[in-house]
This record gives sequence, C-alpha cells and structure tokens, in this order.
Amino acid sequence: MSVSERGSFSSKLGVILATAGSAVGLGNVWRFPYMTGQNGGAVFILIYIFCVLLLGIPCMISEFIIGRHAQSNTARAYRKISGGSAWTLIGYMGVLTGFLITSYYAVVSGWCLHYLWSSMIGHLHGDPAYFQTFFADFSAHPFKPLFWLVVIMLMTYLIVENGVRDGIERASKILMPTLFILLLVIVVASCMLPGAEKGVNFLFRPDWNAVNGDVFLSALGQAFYSMSIAMGCICTYASYFSRQTDLTKSAVQIGIIDSIVAILSGLMIFPAAFSVGVEPDAGPSLIFITLPNVFQQAFSAMPVVGYVISMMFYALLTLAALTSLMSLVEVSTAFCQEEMHITRKKATLLVVLAASFIGMFCSLSLSGYDGLQMLGRSLFDIFDFMTGQIFLPIVGFLTCIYIGWFAPHQIVHDEFTNWGTLRGSFFRIFLFQVKYVCPLCILFIFLHQFGLV
Ligand code: PHE
Repeated sequence: MSVSERGSFSSKLGVILATAGSAVGLGNVWRFPYMTGQNGGAVFILIYIFCVLLLGIPCMISEFIIGRHAQSNTARAYRKISGGSAWTLIGYMGVLTGFLITSYYAVVSGWCLHYLWSSMIGHLHGDPAYFQTFFADFSAHPFKPLFWLVVIMLMTYLIVENGVRDGIERASKILMPTLFILLLVIVVASCMLPGAEKGVNFLFRPDWNAVNGDVFLSALGQAFYSMSIAMGCICTYASYFSRQTDLTKSAVQIGIIDSIVAILSGLMIFPAAFSVGVEPDAGPSLIFITLPNVFQQAFSAMPVVGYVISMMFYALLTLAALTSLMSLVEVSTAFCQEEMHITRKKATLLVVLAASFIGMFCSLSLSGYDGLQMLGRSLFDIFDFMTGQIFLPIVGFLTCIYIGWFAPHQIVHDEFTNWGTLRGSFFRIFLFQVKYVCPLCILFIFLHQFGLV
C-alpha cells in the first residue's frame, strides 16, 4: 500500500493531539492520583517527572523512529528496519499486546460510559452504601457491562473507520480540547470547596519517609503505561508522521501534556475528597464508588452543581478512555489492513468485533463465572497482568536494545535529526539512554515485580 493511500496526519497539532490522546487515558485520571497519594505525594510527582524524562521520552522517540522510518504497521515496521531478522517478532508482540489491551481497556471504558449515562439520568444519587451496591451490581451483571462495551466499541469503530486524518485526527482535535476544558472546570470547582487546601497539601506535601525503591519502580511503571509505550500505539501513529515532524520535540511535548493532565487529575480528586473527609481509595473503587459519593457530598449545598460536575467528570473519563481506545484499535486495524490486504473499513470492523468478543469474556470473568477464572484470578486480571507486567516490559526492553545496539546507526541518526535538517544536540544523550539507562531500568522493574531483585 502506498504511503498516500495509508494516510497521514495533516499538521503538527494533529500529531500532538492524537498522540497525546493515546497517552492521556484512565492511567492519568485514575491511576496516577491514587499512586501519588500512596507514594509520598509531591515526592512521587518529582520522581515521576524524572522517570518520564529518563525512560518515557527516549522510549517514545525509539518507537517514533521505527514507525516513521517504515511508514507501516508495527509488525511490518520492525521487519523493515531490521531487514526481516528475528527482531521482527518484537513488532508482532507489540501488535498482540495492543490487541489484548484493547479488549480489557474497552470493558473499563464501557463502565465509564455507563456512569456518564447514569449521572445524566440522575441515578448517581444515594448514600455511600448505595454507590457500593450500584457498582457491585453493575460489574457483576451478566449483560449491562456488555451493552456498554459494545456501545463504546461502536463509537471507536465510527471514528477509526474514517481513517487517520478524517477519523482519528479530526476526532482528537475535538475531543482533546473538550477534555482539557472539562478538567480545568472541575479542578477549579474542586479547589474552591471549603477545606480543599487539605487535599492540595496532601498532593503536594513531600513525604520523604515514603521514598524507597518501590516508589521509584511504581513511578517507572506508571510512566511507561501512561505514555502508551510498547503496545504498538506510538509506533503506529508515528507511521503517519511527516518527514518534517521533529520527533524529540513531539515526544517532549506529549510527555509534558501527559504529566500535566495527570497532576491536574490529582488536583481534581484530592481537594474534593478531603473537603468531605473521605480518604481516596486505591483501585477501581476510587472512580466508581468513592468519587460519585464525594461529588454528591461536596456540592450538597448546590445539588445542581453536584449533578453537573459529576456528569462532567464521567464525560471527561469517557473522552480520555475513548481517545486511548482509538489508538489501540488503530494498531490492529493498520496491521490487518496491510497484512491481510483488506479495506480499512473491513479491518476496523474485524478488530472491533474480535476485541469486543474477547472483551465480553473479560467482562463476564468479573461476574464470577468459574470457567473464566484461572489460578484464582479472573480473565480480566490475567490480561492486565500479562500485558502490563510481562509483554510490555519485554517489548520496551527489546526495542531499546535494538535501537541502541543493533539498528542501522544511519537510519536512527537520520530520523532523529530529520535527515540532518535539525541540530540533533541531544542525539548522544538519547543513544546513551537507550543503550544503557532504559534497558537496565526496565530489566530492574521486571525482575523486581517477581521478587528477583
Ligand atoms: N496511556 C493510556 C493511559 O494512560 C493507556 C494506554 C495504554 C493507551 C496502551 C493506549 C495504549 O490510560
């Protein structure tokens, strides 16, 4: 397929918004705030920013280089740059990781949509026990989550089938600014609540005693996940970049946007939670059980504001999930389109159907079906574990090793400097990072989670 048939992003803004759309997701709005709370507040934020610079940005640039060089889907991109050697397997693994994540990410994205709908029709109203039951009943229900899974997948399909420019880029240009506006409005509302400063202090007060090796590793893992690295998304999107796109600058800008959204999400959640004296929990219960109650209580004097804020929050969450889901679906769509030689519409349909099908099993596994449990874990947890803790570090590690040690130096240098038209002052630093720093850090995280170091 020729490059013009594949499509490309039309502008720098399109590149940044679409790629930031992939990066900004549930990881920012939900996971980052509670990890910050658990790991020493401001200290975690500092360590996290350090990890984005140390690991996230160089890994992102490496994927940019491979994707833009090949101008093709992730599997073919690794094949092209490596001349068809065994490194090709990393590309296939990236596509597989992206596909598996799609199916369970879609389940949680469906939950967000259900909560958006429920907040609109006024069902998110009651005491703390009500919210607990509301979530338990919904997530264990055999059909309701499946319905919302199908709806969110249909929305993703309708965007991705229109192609890179008219689908993904156009949608990102509308969805991402809307997301920022919603975020800012909720942050302001949350910080204006009486007693909000306790939440701000909690988020920004450095607790040096909390710092240990685990905090570093959590921050490293979170940086990786939050920047959508090692799942084919970044490589696939980079295949639609133009030759003029400055890869380093784009990676830095995306890293900054991603981190700002994460920090602002903390500022949205903690002040509201502390103003009503609720300790923010970890895990799914934070956004689906604790927060609806927090918003309702915090704005109890102005129920209409509470209703609007709650709706805005779930709209924000759905947008963040949707733009990430688009990028995940695009990984497999580009793969099917180019490897099976089918049209984009057919490829998107195939991917969406297959991912929804597997997603259904993930969703059902949470309803307690015995057949969908293995070793005491649900299929959902197994997918999460396999992709996040095993595939992701392996793909990331091997990509760095490949770019640092084995890829043709000229290609890496040309892509980094846009064929000598950019100064490329950071090239040596980049190379040092992907040769030594990133692989060692990733290896360390990998071994640590199995208790080996
Ligand atoms: N980066 C997204 C987030 O922060 C998650 C994601 C992972 C998106 C992998 C795409 C690919 O939630």
